[in-house]
Amino acid sequence: MKKFFLFSLIILVIACQENPEKKPQMSEEKLYRPAFHFTPKKSWMNDPNGMFYYKGTYHLYFQYYPDDNVWGPMHWGHASSKDMVNWEEYPIALYPDEMGYIFSGSAVVDHNNTSGFGQNGKTPTVAIFTHHNMEKEKAAQVDVETQSIAYSLDEGMTWTKYAGNPVIENPEIRDFRDPKVIWDDNSNQWIMALAAHDNVRFYASPNLKDWSYLSNFGFDKGHYGGVWECPDLFPLKVAGSDEIKWVLFVSINPGGPNGGSATQYFVGDFDGTNFVLDQDFAKDLENRNDFWVDFGRDNYAGVTWQNIQRDNGNRLFIGWMSNWDYAQEVPTHAWRSAMTIAREIGLIKTTQGYRLTNIPVEEAKQTLDSLTLDSETLLGNMKLELAVDSMKKVGYILSNKLGEKLEFGFDPVKQNFYIDRTVAGKNDFSEKFAPQLSYAPRFTEEKNIQGSMILDKTSIELFWDDGRTVMTEIFFPNAPFNQITKIE
Ligand code: FRU
Repeated sequence: MKKFFLFSLIILVIACQENPEKKPQMSEEKLYRPAFHFTPKKSWMNDPNGMFYYKGTYHLYFQYYPDDNVWGPMHWGHASSKDMVNWEEYPIALYPDEMGYIFSGSAVVDHNNTSGFGQNGKTPTVAIFTHHNMEKEKAAQVDVETQSIAYSLDEGMTWTKYAGNPVIENPEIRDFRDPKVIWDDNSNQWIMALAAHDNVRFYASPNLKDWSYLSNFGFDKGHYGGVWECPDLFPLKVAGSDEIKWVLFVSINPGGPNGGSATQYFVGDFDGTNFVLDQDFAKDLENRNDFWVDFGRDNYAGVTWQNIQRDNGNRLFIGWMSNWDYAQEVPTHAWRSAMTIAREIGLIKTTQGYRLTNIPVEEAKQTLDSLTLDSETLLGNMKLELAVDSMKKVGYILSNKLGEKLEFGFDPVKQNFYIDRTVAGKNDFSEKFAPQLSYAPRFTEEKNIQGSMILDKTSIELFWDDGRTVMTEIFFPNAPFNQITKIE
């Protein structure tokens, strides 16, 4: 018996060596739980919501369904961080109620207590979100979505919904959601950007409770085939100058540059009432029409943080690192979805016109530099350099002991950056996950290409040419990627 046991053990060891796939699998937690990107401890997550910074803490709320790993009745989950890398998750911030599910929205720190929610000198934080009424949806009514508010007097930990909700009734528009609010110093009022099917509507308020309609933007601008969602309107200083331009983010689903959901941007001016495209930008938009925050397939519904800006006026951003094409099928079960690394959004003026840049926030880079790239799993932050000497593709390959690989780089023939996740591991959970390579244009002429990569267990974020072309994608290898080779 003993001998037989020993014999079987030897056979098992040999079998495992010959065919590594037969090795006992790593747990989902160990293999796929990101090392430094935010994921909820359990269950389903989509869009980031209500991000604000206050007293040294970055707050992040998110579309959350605690009872399953697919989309369902929406709550706002809550997490916070001091460095935007190490996140702590808290109890649910907002629960669905008789007015509906709690859809995406924003939060502001109301320093001057314009809302009157402040008490005993405590500064109120006010969340502005969409109530989505499922009964009305099922009854095929149009007025399914309205805008509501809630306030917190303990720095975002607990919230009280306003008794006068909704603060904006539905004007007979079926898709009418995702309010993003900022304080506009020039016009001295709160401004809301709200998605309305194929355009963004702007509203103004003195107190976050009474809103008046200002204007709209869209219809035939940029990409509008899919539904417009999660807008964000904010001023940015043009790098190296004192010039201010206004940027409008609009997420669209579907219609992204590589399929499914993605976020486009527009550059213009806002006078307190109207958002008007910059003239050069408008011309460019007609010619090129590919102004995307991120060209990869997995950065959606991202918006910027409230109540914090860099000294140079740049803003901080985070996106949902997935795509509605397959988000509910990805092969993690205990939890589903992660957020991108937090990023700094800037604006530069080039010979072609104004262009957005986005790079990982400095805070994250510092924490990630201290991560060791161990031999078991490649993780962290790495500088990339590509020398383009011929028409041959240049780039890198991440691989594992199973022969699975993720390739990315630059294709001089196509003049495109690319990511190839077609043989990077599990991809049969959805036909839409990896039907082909993803591509992104290059906007600069310099011969050599500089970039950086943020690599976690199931995601790659590529920032080329100082953040002018960005690509974010997820992948699910059956064993960790532990090798990186250069294609030259
Ligand atoms: C974007 C979105 C939003 C909506 C939310 C619902 O991903 O569709 O428009 O508020 O998700 O969870």
